[in-house]
Amino acid sequence: MTTVEPTDTLTFPAARGGCPFAPPPAYQQAMEQRPVTPVSLWDGSRAWLVTRHEDVRAVLGDSRFSSDARHSGFPFLSAGRRELAVQKPSFIRMDDPEHARLRRMLTGDFIIKRVEALRPEIQSIVDGFLDGMTAHRPPADLVQEFALPVPSLVICLLLGVPYQDHDFFQQHSRILLDNRTSAEQVRQARDELTRYLEELAERKEREPDQQIISRLVGRGDLSRSEVASMSLLLLVAGHETTANMTALGTLALLREPAQLARLREDPTLIKGAVEELLRYLSIVQSGVTRVALEPVRIGAVTVAAGEGVVCMLSTANRDEAAFPGAEQLDVGREARRHVAFGFGVHQCLGQPLARLELQIALDTLFRRLPTLRLAVPVEEIRFRDDTVVYGVEALPVAW
Ligand code: HEM
Repeated sequence: MTTVEPTDTLTFPAARGGCPFAPPPAYQQAMEQRPVTPVSLWDGSRAWLVTRHEDVRAVLGDSRFSSDARHSGFPFLSAGRRELAVQKPSFIRMDDPEHARLRRMLTGDFIIKRVEALRPEIQSIVDGFLDGMTAHRPPADLVQEFALPVPSLVICLLLGVPYQDHDFFQQHSRILLDNRTSAEQVRQARDELTRYLEELAERKEREPDQQIISRLVGRGDLSRSEVASMSLLLLVAGHETTANMTALGTLALLREPAQLARLREDPTLIKGAVEELLRYLSIVQSGVTRVALEPVRIGAVTVAAGEGVVCMLSTANRDEAAFPGAEQLDVGREARRHVAFGFGVHQCLGQPLARLELQIALDTLFRRLPTLRLAVPVEEIRFRDDTVVYGVEALPVAW
């Protein structure tokens, strides 16, 4: 049996290289030379980095790999991530049947048909924030004026969270997703957000509405802290991810004028273009973590029980075996098999919503602003490298 040996280990995380959209070269090299490779993590522990498309899907689709961070050997990617995963975990850090029981309470809200019915409302939200951004003379920061507020307002409406509290939950979410924050900072941010959502849940008991939090409260079989934990997951996952995809997707298209021109000539390409951007950018950059509950063979390696794995969605999405010409952004590609939303039982619950938001936001942005361009040289753009979700700090644009 192969165990994680201290020799030949790669230090995790590795730095990105020249192209800001590509995964770290060390991971790409691992995919070519040793697709299941040992890595040493920040706390000195070791895990296996899984890089190929086929292997990532195999791990994420296999119930012998657990998402429950309370199992010994679970790999943590920072002190803050450990705090979040071990104390009061939400269902993303549970295994079936408990995970399935809680997730099932929400699946109806995110099925394609239900989400598609939100199209007119999302279109009007997108138009509203674009009106606001273009009401002033350029430049503007696309992140603050457009990419962040659109999914924030949408998830607030779905959950029944007052949008006027957006500064509070956006700042707290960033702390939770930042790999540089300490366990104490994460604990404080998580507890403040939890308290806020518990108070909201209490209010919904007295003044029910039609939205998700109120419905969870009204079921009667969930404690207030369970409702808060599920709401916290939806609130955080529901805005940070799509916001960063919108900003990075815009930047990627502005940097590839030929691809943008194709999209402008044929707007019916938008659905496929969003899939391709999800694949190409793979914004969940820090890897998806699991621990083996029994020995499992992946490729040439047997992962022992109690050993951790880090599934690299970004390299899997650039695996030539799955996506020929993977380095190239190609808005006409059939990229549906990408793993940007994960795979298996934990595959992203909100993906129909994320897809619709991205399709409407990017289509409307480029249609309404035909002269959209960067307002600063690309070298001045600051990327967010030390977070779970990759993105840009700001995206100054003109039109
Ligand atoms: C571009 C946008 C998004 C990306 C790239 C993304 C990515 C992901 C990934 C990779 C996972 C799997 C994590 C794992 O296996 O451990 C996940 C899970 C999840 N996502 Fe998303 N997500 C996005 C948008 C959203 C939105 C808009 C929502 C909410 C409305 C959402 C809610 C969730 C939830 C609740 C889970 C946990 C599912 C489970 O454990 O069963 N996500 N997401």
